[in-house]
Amino acid sequence: MSATIMRGKHFITLDDWSKQEIDMALETAGDLKRKFARGESHRLLADKTLFNMFFEQSTRTRNSMEAGITQLGGHAHDLTPDKMQLSHGESAKDTAMVLSRMGHGIACRNCFYGIGNEYLNELARWSSVPVMSLQDDLYHPMQGIADLMTMQEYFGKNLKGLKVTISWAYATSHAKPLSVPQTQILLLTRYGMDVTVAAPKEFPLMKKIVDKAQLNAEKGGGKLSFTDDMNTGFEGAHIVIPKNWGGFANFDEFEDNEEYRKAMKSNLEKYKNWICDEDRMKLASPEVKYMHALPADRGNEVTDSVIDGPASIIYDEAENRLHTAKSIMALTMGGRP
Ligand code: CP
Repeated sequence: MSATIMRGKHFITLDDWSKQEIDMALETAGDLKRKFARGESHRLLADKTLFNMFFEQSTRTRNSMEAGITQLGGHAHDLTPDKMQLSHGESAKDTAMVLSRMGHGIACRNCFYGIGNEYLNELARWSSVPVMSLQDDLYHPMQGIADLMTMQEYFGKNLKGLKVTISWAYATSHAKPLSVPQTQILLLTRYGMDVTVAAPKEFPLMKKIVDKAQLNAEKGGGKLSFTDDMNTGFEGAHIVIPKNWGGFANFDEFEDNEEYRKAMKSNLEKYKNWICDEDRMKLASPEVKYMHALPADRGNEVTDSVIDGPASIIYDEAENRLHTAKSIMALTMGGRP
């Protein structure tokens, strides 16, 4: 099999990457993880510049990209709208055209509903260097590939039939995006996993994403099913991923509608008992692992005893954000000249 060349490829959704490309990225992440552990130099992107644009806050994504490009021998610019002319309305086209003449990669987080994914695609349309999503309103591919790497580390490369439950959970910290569970249902089904989404009826995922994930399941030999009962979702699961997401699936229709926002708040309060606790963990497989993209809303989404307990693999999952981010940068910004 010839080497898979991803130099110049955009990374906006994993659905645009073949399984062969994703496998190559996972193998590369594993190599980089071993080199990092051994303290071996791996300056695959020496003297390259990454533009890292964040419209929202971040701990894991910002630092995995910045630490990652430094370890690869390059440099990142930490950009926020107030530091750029974005705050004066500069277009995605002009931003992409200019930055791609000055450096080697553009990465961007823009989670505004109905805007983020379109903004990233507009950057990609005009950029001559790879554009990497750091999360938008639909997808979070950097999180998805780190999750997959972590699952393979714990359950082996062949994940066919692994029972994974992606559950909505109550939170008060902020209305969290749909992009993490949507990326997970699209990706895990391609690897043959048996994915259950547990969520109250008021908190659906976007229909077009669910439809595509069903197709991915058919092609990948996986399964995708739904329940509105958290306990049912947990039964027999090998991995549980309980996490809040806001009621944004129909957001386009209700944007700027104060009544809709109030209704969402009152819907949220109905489901305070959707917490991942030790009783619910007992419903899962004895070998169950608990995952969360973080930041977690402790005491609401999950009890301390679970997130700090023996089933939790959240810090491995977070660490793998570094190794997978480096892999994506190395393959798209570097590779065969
Ligand atoms: N999981 C994740 O993307 O974390 P940050 O929002 O801190 O980057």
